[in-house]
Amino acid sequence: MTFRIAQISDTHLSDRKPFFVDNFVRIGEALRADRPDFVLNSGDISLDGASNEDDLAAARALHDGLDLPVRFLPGNHDIGDCQDAPAHGEGTIDAPRRDGYVRHFGADWWSFDVAGWRLLGVNAQLLGSDLAAAQEQDAAIAEAAAGLGARRLALFLHKPMFDRDVGETEITGRFVNPAPRQRLMASLGGVAPALVACGHVHQYRETRSAGSCHVWATSTAFVLPDRLQPRYGIKEVGYVEHRLEPDGTHDSRLVRVAGVPTLNIADFPGAYGPI
Ligand SMILES: [Fe+2]
Ligand SMILES: [Fe+2]
Repeated sequence: MTFRIAQISDTHLSDRKPFFVDNFVRIGEALRADRPDFVLNSGDISLDGASNEDDLAAARALHDGLDLPVRFLPGNHDIGDCQDAPAHGEGTIDAPRRDGYVRHFGADWWSFDVAGWRLLGVNAQLLGSDLAAAQEQDAAIAEAAAGLGARRLALFLHKPMFDRDVGETEITGRFVNPAPRQRLMASLGGVAPALVACGHVHQYRETRSAGSCHVWATSTAFVLPDRLQPRYGIKEVGYVEHRLEPDGTHDSRLVRVAGVPTLNIADFPGAYGPI
């Protein structure tokens, strides 16, 4: 039987600054009508949970209101950014921030199997950090990859692995940086995930590289203006449906939800300050 995942991402939720809650609620209504096998939020669940735990609590409550099975992965706005990312406001991951995330959303990495597949969720901001949990996560990734058997691997994380090529050397906040990327590849031990699904860029895109299909989920909330961020794919809000078949084939698509506007962060200076 087909296993269907509804991936939402970059919901950027807050009670204090509820600019993007209406979009979430409307997309939630569409998800309840669609009834996927589970909903994945691939990070930036909260507006600014990295420095305000109230945002984590508000975001969790909104997800509980979906009344659907939900899994979470942390984004930079929930837990702080990677320690080697250029600073842009939300601070970097540390033990207190990670503990706060885990209190509200549970484990920040996880793995489980469905027919023909192993699903592996990874904390992208933890990769390559100096936290002791980084080594535990590396070991969990290695174990999940080594025990795949005949299954195919679907990897989920907040940030794209790279733009076009695993060998890219730029250090940015936009993709997993070179050192943590190499560490992730080493932990995978030569296994090429059939599907790599991420969020973070607020654009939908599907590309192929070295045996993997890379799918970027867009945000449910907002896009960034072209003057701040190049166009890699589609700048429209929505969610992504992934269909995993027991025979290892798979398909992903952007789902647009009627009545949900594509907001632009430039119109919300109260969210993160003027840009
Ligand atoms: Fe985001
Ligand atoms: Fe992000």
